[in-house]
Amino acid sequence: MDQAHKVRIFDTTLRDGEQAPGYSMNAEEKLLLAQQLAKLGVDTIEAGFAASSPGDFESVRDIGHTLKGPRVVSLCRTRFEDIDAASEALKGSFNWGLHTVIATSPLHMKHKLMMTPEEVLESSIRAVERMRSYTDSVEFSCEDATRSEPEFLVKLLTQVVAAGASILNIPDTVGYTTPTEMFRLIDRLKNEIKDADKVVFSVHCHNDLGMAVANSLAAVQAGARQVECTVNGIGERAGNASMEEIVMALKTRQQFFNLETGIVTEQIFPTSRLLTQLTGQPVQPNKAIVGANAFAHEAGIHQDGVLKNPLTYEIMTPESVGIKSNNIVLGKHSGRTALADRLKNLGYEFSRNELGRIFAEFKRLADAKKVVYDEDLEAIVTQGAVDGGGRFQLRSLNVQSGTHIMPTATVEMEVDGKVVREAHFGDGPVDAALNTIKAITRSTCHLTQYKVNAITGGTDAQGEVTVSIEDNGRTATGRGTDLDIIVASAKAYVNALNRLALRSQHVAGV
Ligand code: KIV
Ligand code: ZN
Repeated sequence: MDQAHKVRIFDTTLRDGEQAPGYSMNAEEKLLLAQQLAKLGVDTIEAGFAASSPGDFESVRDIGHTLKGPRVVSLCRTRFEDIDAASEALKGSFNWGLHTVIATSPLHMKHKLMMTPEEVLESSIRAVERMRSYTDSVEFSCEDATRSEPEFLVKLLTQVVAAGASILNIPDTVGYTTPTEMFRLIDRLKNEIKDADKVVFSVHCHNDLGMAVANSLAAVQAGARQVECTVNGIGERAGNASMEEIVMALKTRQQFFNLETGIVTEQIFPTSRLLTQLTGQPVQPNKAIVGANAFAHEAGIHQDGVLKNPLTYEIMTPESVGIKSNNIVLGKHSGRTALADRLKNLGYEFSRNELGRIFAEFKRLADAKKVVYDEDLEAIVTQGAVDGGGRFQLRSLNVQSGTHIMPTATVEMEVDGKVVREAHFGDGPVDAALNTIKAITRSTCHLTQYKVNAITGGTDAQGEVTVSIEDNGRTATGRGTDLDIIVASAKAYVNALNRLALRSQHVAGV
């Protein structure tokens, strides 16, 4: 691919996306998602913010040392301790870089950083020099660039380039700008920054006014050749520019943009599903590209048109983004090889041991259900990652309920490796199970949301439960699947408690 016409995809799902309430992931989940992002073909994965917590440090290190394709970066402030921690986590990785950020708008410099523009300039140059002492791959971001003074941006970025940065990122941090303004800003910076032709311009747009994708595409039209974005558009507040929308806009309107990405578009839907499964956060049905209705045709006149010629109402095919029409896969007579083959088609590969666990779960499900669908398999795969490694593990659950009995649950759990068993009442069987888990874990959280979905059709469908909890201003969402919805509810609740415990270890990010 001709480099001048290539738009690099910088995925920040694991950093900006994971930072948003309800999207925290544990180290295993992050690695699973990073491996899928590599399969998707993203150019860069921002794996986290190494200096923010020991958990983030380890996760950035593991992702950097495991992946062989994409460049893995960590975010850092311009402080030397952040830069040193990020490089400590990543050194020895296959392909890595550093990304630093400092605010440049008058508002942020004065009220947040309490620094003068000269101090910001000085700190930026020192940071870039420090990063260059570790790696040649140095990205510099001006936080709140779209509300910064363009003259100041030109002055600062010229010096940042002279200090050795190779990527200049222009964030619309608060989702304030418009496509025309974004085009003009990138165009001006490209014209006025000295040696602009020696660096790559990047954009990072938030979606507060619903213009993140439009603003990113305007930047690309003005010459930006890297877009920072996230799967399903997740991220701070209203989220970031959605990866799938940027990629499919560039692909579907290739003749208009005359640009390409390196994304394997058939991996878009599996990646979106994996994120949904890992975080328990569903995608809105009318979400472009990956929403449940994105390729559904309800009106008779549309159905008639699509049957005669799909191009009448479809500007891209569901297959091109990895949505398969035939979901029926396996049943109780299927063997390990058929399972491994189907999992491979879904984009998963496992060691013998891991496959053993998945096969056992699959058999248990196939004995109870006539047909095991792709969605069921994905649930088994991700539940394994979701369950692993938390402070709390559910060992067993028994619930009694009915017309003439007070619902009672008996639960056995491991809490920090110690086995605890208790029984409590509730208003219903789910309430009894959750009350008992809450008592065992000594949690003071409140349940703020409880949702049950059937993963597939039929009365034998697995129940997928999503719960959200809140404790002292901190929130977490958990997900559990099982044929029994009370067991699924207990799994989801334990998962949310584990995520909340994990979140408590994090210190405030950028
Ligand atoms: O929104 C923002 O400005 C950021 C930077 C760290 C790039 O997330
Ligand atoms: Zn951001």
